[in-house]
Amino acid sequence: MSKEKKIIAAKKAFEYVEEGMKLGLGTGSTADEFTKILSDNVKDGFQITCVPTSENTKKLAESLEIPLGTLEDYNILDLTIDGADEIADDLSLMKGGGGAHTQEKIIATASKNFLCIADQSKIVSKLGSFPIPVEVLSQARSFVARKLMALGGIAKLRHDFITDQGNEILDLTGMTIDDPISLETKINSIPGVVDNGIFGLRKADQIFIG
Ligand code: A5P
Repeated sequence: MSKEKKIIAAKKAFEYVEEGMKLGLGTGSTADEFTKILSDNVKDGFQITCVPTSENTKKLAESLEIPLGTLEDYNILDLTIDGADEIADDLSLMKGGGGAHTQEKIIATASKNFLCIADQSKIVSKLGSFPIPVEVLSQARSFVARKLMALGGIAKLRHDFITDQGNEILDLTGMTIDDPISLETKINSIPGVVDNGIFGLRKADQIFIG
């Protein structure tokens, strides 16, 4: 997606941000454009406190002098704005292309509202063309991979990648996702899985397409 389209979606999402909010800040190139727009407003005196969904977003927000907190500081966030890798008709999502889905899901679930910003190419009739990222404890990697294969998929280790939590990612392909919540739950019930990139239990509330 062109940078201009990301900026259009991010600007639209900013219209939903109110002063004083506790805001979840997403991860990825589209969410970064939103963070930059937010920082321009913070420089002009806009009051906000943000909870970043990854170390990358934290670093960017710190460099832009956006006030930050952690989820430990707040029970509930007002709003989270984040990108996605796939968006289905019912607003269930695939996330985790950048490997940040575990924290992204926690923060989206802790938020009253969850807005997703993306371009047209992310819209799909059904999730699953994009591999499902599965964060796993490294000690359980082979065990989990075998269990994922028993579900009918092919699990490939994401090489040279460690999550912010110090874990590994298995990218799962070959799955038909007719029921996102059922598959999300099934994968997460395998011991050793931290979380997977299907956002069915916590879908987006609204999407903005650049
Ligand atoms: C990060 O782990 C992902 O969930 C991102 O939100 C997703 O990959 C979207 O990234 P882009 O905005 O860069 O496409």
